[in-house]
Formats: sequence, structure tokens, C-alpha cells
Amino acid sequence: MPFYQRLGEVPRKRHIQFRDNGTLLTEEVMGLEGFVGNESILYHLQSPCRVMKLGDFEEIEREEWVPDAHAHRLFNTYDVDPGGDEVTGRRLLMWNGDVEISLARPDEQMDYFFRNGEGDEVVFVHEGSGTVETNFGDVPYKDGDYVVIPRGTTYRFNTEGPQRYLVFETPGLIEIPRRYRNQYGQLLEGAPYYHRDIHPPTELHTHREKGEFPVKVRVRGGYQTYVLDYHPFDVVGWDGYLYPWTFSVHDFEPITGRIHQPPPSHQTFQGRNFVICSFCPRKLDFDELAVPIPYHHSNLQSEEMIYYVSGNFGSRKGVDVGSITLHPSGLPHGPQPGLAEKSIGVRETHELAVMCDTFHPLRLTEFARGIDDGTYAYSWFEEPGATGSDDDPAGVTSHL
Ligand SMILES: [Fe+2]
Repeated sequence: MPFYQRLGEVPRKRHIQFRDNGTLLTEEVMGLEGFVGNESILYHLQSPCRVMKLGDFEEIEREEWVPDAHAHRLFNTYDVDPGGDEVTGRRLLMWNGDVEISLARPDEQMDYFFRNGEGDEVVFVHEGSGTVETNFGDVPYKDGDYVVIPRGTTYRFNTEGPQRYLVFETPGLIEIPRRYRNQYGQLLEGAPYYHRDIHPPTELHTHREKGEFPVKVRVRGGYQTYVLDYHPFDVVGWDGYLYPWTFSVHDFEPITGRIHQPPPSHQTFQGRNFVICSFCPRKLDFDELAVPIPYHHSNLQSEEMIYYVSGNFGSRKGVDVGSITLHPSGLPHGPQPGLAEKSIGVRETHELAVMCDTFHPLRLTEFARGIDDGTYAYSWFEEPGATGSDDDPAGVTSHL
């Protein structure tokens, strides 16, 4: 999506003969928005329609949890057991019609290929490295990377070491915020990242093997398996604007101010009715009267989930690496008692967190219920006579 790329061999012009050892290749236009959105053109050894066998269709079932009370919530994900692979290991935490948010700690290698036929994906890699092998080529990744995989990409993860991801899937598009781009698509000087921070596929491998290759495709609310008699990475070359890419959260350049900057200054991606933001280590507000911790705010038209990646969250009771707070719509939220006072004079924060704000309510799953702290809603409550938190001000959570 970000800018024009080309890998492998493509013919001089679109839609002309292009051959491999005398055989006419199959040209596939893979595009969005009915031929007026971004697209790439791929050249295949085989027709991408070619299917040897239709396999099973497996419906995606969600176990919803409707809590008894509407309240702020805290989920502790860090000790969730590993399981499954990069697709089957996704454990849905919360969702609505615009986005599904899952935790994954895969410990199995995919023995099939996957394609999301009905949504874009962002895999935030909290821990782990490896390569996402795709029909566009290899996409290496490491800790801190957002791996952006547009719908229609066929892929398989090849992992190195333990893996821990936060996964977003959306029936809409994952885009770079419009306000970061000029009318030609170039990222503006004021944007918190630049094209050099965006990493497209590095190397294209054209596979010519024959055999039995299962491809699982997410479509119509389930997974349809197809068996191909050829390796699905049979692309000789491609070019265009649509391809998987990575962006490291560590390359996000924080925007700071003399007084507190609002959450949109941390925006990294825009989705359909949601945003993804990165809260990165940074200098804090520097006015001599600044309160560096956020003001209370009522997110009347959005739900806010924050995933804590690294840093010292000691000032928020129960919040640790891998924790998720959910501040649902209709309620105010803000720092716990005593923290605004304690934050005064704090000059920098070393916390790293990923936030997703949705503009429509999120539903929760039974998996979320199992890791719900259950007491977070009371963390602003002080018994009469209490003096507030005794926690270390250096760990003041700066972005809630
Ligand atoms: Fe907030």
C-alpha cells in the first residue's frame, strides 16, 4: 500500500505476452475497490484459480461473554499458555464489526498456507522473529514489528524462537493515516514515520514444485481449505502498491509538546472505524506548570484498549507487560488517585504500548473472561482517609 514496488521479472507493459521457457504466464491483477484502488499485478506459473480438491469449510465460532456489569477492565495475557500456529493459535479477546483483536502465542509451525480472503491483518510482534513467506516474497520480522498483511496475500510463517503477538483483523483496510500523506501519497515532514521505515518484501522465491499443497482461506466467516497440485508461491514477478510490509514500533517518532498531546498524535494506522496507536518512549510535557500525565477524558464515542508491551507500569496496580486495559465507551477514565500529583516533574517515559480505539462498542469473549482481573473497575476508589498510591513516580503511566 505505501508506494510502488517491483520484485522479480515483469514484462515491459501490462497485459502483454510474458513467457517462462516458452509458456505463457498467467497475469493476475489483485486490486482493491473495483479497479480504482491500489493494486498489484502478479505473474504466475499456474492459474491462481487452479484447485485439485475442495477441502473442508470450518465456521469461525465465537464464544461471547456478556459481563454482568459495564465497567473498565484489565486482562493479564502474559501467562497465557502457548498453543496452535500463527492462525489457529489466535485467541480472540474482543471484536466488533470493524475489527477482531486476538492474542497469539504460537508454538507450532504452519503445515499449510493461509490467505485472508475477507480482511486485512496487522500482526504486532511483541516477542519473536522470523520470516513471513508470502506469494510476494519474504517478509522478515522481529520484536516490535507491525506486520501488515493485505487481504489476498497467501502466506506462511517461518518462526525463530518463542512468539507472542497481538493480532488485528479487519474487513476494512489498514491504511497509513490520510493526514500523514500529501496528495501524491508521499509521507509528510510532520508525519511520525517515513518511507524508509516501511519494509516491503525483500526477496522473491519462485517455487516450481508439484505435489499437494493445502491453502486455508478465510472467507464468509470461516476457513475454506483448498488443495493445490502446485506450490502457491509460483510468482515470477509482481509490481504495484499492494503487498505485505513491516513497520517497527521503534521507528515511530513520538510527537511531544510543552503541554499534553492528545492520543491522535500517537496514531500509527487508520482502519474502518478504528485506529491503532503506538505509545513510545519519549520526553514528556515540558512547560514548568505541565501535568505530564493525561487529563481524565470521557471517550463518549469510542472504546479504548491498550496493550502494554514494555516498560515500568508499576504505578498502575496490576498492569504489567502483556496486560490489556479496556476503557469502554460511555465512561470517563484517567490516572488513578495521586498519580497526577506524583507525575509533576517527571521528564520522560520509557513505556511502550499499543492502543486500539474503536468507534463502535467491542464485544468480549469467554477467553477474555478467563483472564479478566475483575477488580480494575475499583482502582480509582479510595477508602475515606487513604492517601493515594505509594508507587514509584518514575513509572507513572503516561498515556491512558
Ligand atoms: Fe484514554
